[in-house]
Amino acid sequence: MLSDEGVRHNRNNQRIEGGEDMENSKTRLLEKLASGEAHVAVIGLGYVGLPLAVVFAESGYRVTGIDLDERKVNAINCGSSYIDDVSQRSVQDLVCQHKLSATSDFSVIAQCDAVSICVPTPLRKTGDPDISYIVSVTEQLAKYLLPGMVVVLESTTYPGTTLEIVLPLLSKSAHRLKVGENFFLAFSPERVDPGRTDWTTRTTPKVIGGITPDCLEVAKAYYGRAIDTLVPVSSTEAAEMVKLLENTFRAVNIGLVNEVLLMCDRLGLDVWEVIDAAASKPFGFMKFTPGPGLGGHCIPIDPLYLSWKLRTLNYTARFIELASEVNTSMPRYWAQKVQDALNEAGKPLKSSNILVLGVAYKKEVGDVRESPALDIIHDLAQKGAVVQYHDPHVATLSHDGVEMSGVSDLPAALCEADCVVIVTDHSVYDWEEIRKSSPLLVDTRRALAQALPQPNPGPEQPQEPAIQD
Ligand SMILES: NC(=O)c1ccc[n+]([C@@H]2O[C@H](COP(=O)([O-])OP(=O)(O)OC[C@H]3O[C@@H](n4cnc5c(N)ncnc54)[C@H](O)[C@@H]3O)[C@@H](O)[C@H]2O)c1
Repeated sequence: MLSDEGVRHNRNNQRIEGGEDMENSKTRLLEKLASGEAHVAVIGLGYVGLPLAVVFAESGYRVTGIDLDERKVNAINCGSSYIDDVSQRSVQDLVCQHKLSATSDFSVIAQCDAVSICVPTPLRKTGDPDISYIVSVTEQLAKYLLPGMVVVLESTTYPGTTLEIVLPLLSKSAHRLKVGENFFLAFSPERVDPGRTDWTTRTTPKVIGGITPDCLEVAKAYYGRAIDTLVPVSSTEAAEMVKLLENTFRAVNIGLVNEVLLMCDRLGLDVWEVIDAAASKPFGFMKFTPGPGLGGHCIPIDPLYLSWKLRTLNYTARFIELASEVNTSMPRYWAQKVQDALNEAGKPLKSSNILVLGVAYKKEVGDVRESPALDIIHDLAQKGAVVQYHDPHVATLSHDGVEMSGVSDLPAALCEADCVVIVTDHSVYDWEEIRKSSPLLVDTRRALAQALPQPNPGPEQPQEPAIQD
C-alpha cells in the first residue's frame, strides 16, 4: 500500500523499509494460511471457481469470489448455488457464517492474502488460444497486489503462461514486487469432472508447481488446508503440461476409439462387441467408448493449446491434430446415419421430424459448451430436417447460432418424430419406453443396450474412463 507520503506499507500497515524482508513476508503469510486467518479471493466463479471457493471457505478461510457476472455475484450473496455440483445448503451456510461472499470489485484484493484465478481459456475463431481473460484479470490483480500475497493460476493453458505472461504483468505492479521474495506465484490445474460424485474438488489429488521453491512451499500451504492430496512438481510449466497431457490422453484415446467405430462400420462389425471383449483383458487395455464427438470446455480445447504452443516451436503435435480431426468429424457421421436410417425407411431427411435426446455435452450436466449435439442439430437442420430436442437439464439452447427451446412433452414428441437421435444418455431417460415409442432410433451412445438384459459380466474392469467429455 502506498500512503499519502508515498511510503510503502505491507498489508498489516507496517512500514516497509528498503524492501520487505523476504523471510518476514513468507513467514507471516505461512502463519496466516496455517491458522486459517487468511483472506482468499477466487477470481471467476464458474464450474471451477465456485467449487474451489466453497472448499476454501469450508476449510476455514474467509473467501471472496470475484466475477464480472452480476447474476453470479448476486446469487452467491443471496446464498444460492447455480452449479449442480455445489449444494444450495453449502453456499447458504457459508454465506450465513460470513465465510463466503462475492463481488465484481477487484479492489477487495488489496485486503486478501491469497488469490486463485479460474477464468475461461477458450479458443479464438482461428483455433488459437485466447488467454485474454487471464491477461485481463492479471492486469486488474497487479493494481492491488501487495507484499506477502500468493497468486495461483488454475485456468488450463499452454506451458509457459504463468512464467511468460502472468509473472511479467504482476512484476509491473506499483510495488515492484519480487517473485519468491515478497510475493509468490504458482500454477495448479483444476481436474474437476462436473457431475462426478466419487471424486470431488477436495478429494481429487491436485498438481501444483511454483515459479521458485518458496512459491511452491507457500502455494502448498495455501491449498494444503483445503485439498486432501497435493502433487508437487518442479515448475509452473511442468504443472501446466500435466493438465494438457491428461486431456490430450483422453482426446487421443477417444479419437482412436471413434476411428475404430468408423473402421468397424466399414468392416461390418459391431464396435461395441469388439470393445467389450477387448475390455475383458485385465491389464494393458483401457476402455474408451465411441460417441457423437467431443464436448465440454476442456477435452476439445485444451490439446489445441498444446499444439499451438508446439507450432511456435516448429513442431507439429501429430496425435493431437489427427485426434481432433477424427473427433470433430463424428457429428457429421451421426447426421449421415440419421439420413441413412430415414432412407432405409423410405423417407427423405428434408422435412422429416427429428427429435434429439440430450443436448448437454455429457450425461447429468446442463453444460452445452462445444456439445456435439449442436453440430448434429445444425447439420440436420441445414439439410432441411425439422429438428427438436429434449433435455431434462437444458431448457433452452442459445449457442453457436442455434436458438431453440426444448420440448416439454417427451412422450408426445417421441410419437411425432420420424427419427429419434440419442446424443446424451442422461440417467433419467427410460430407454425401454423410448425404444417402444420411437419409430426409428439412432443411438450414438449405446444407451438402448441399457434396456436389454445384460449378459454375464466378464472379469471386473479396473479401468474406468468411458465417457466422451
Ligand atoms: N469446466 C470444467 O470442467 C473444467 C475442468 C478443469 C479445468 N477447467 C478450466 O478452468 C478454467 C475455468 O473454466 P470454467 O469451466 O470454470 O469456466 P466458466 O465459464 O464456468 O467460469 C468462468 C467464470 O469467469 C468469469 N469471468 C470471465 N472473465 C472475468 C473477469 N475478467 N473477471 C472476473 N471474472 C471473470 C465468468 O463470468 C465465469 O463466471 C478454464 O481454463 C477451464 O479450461 C474447467
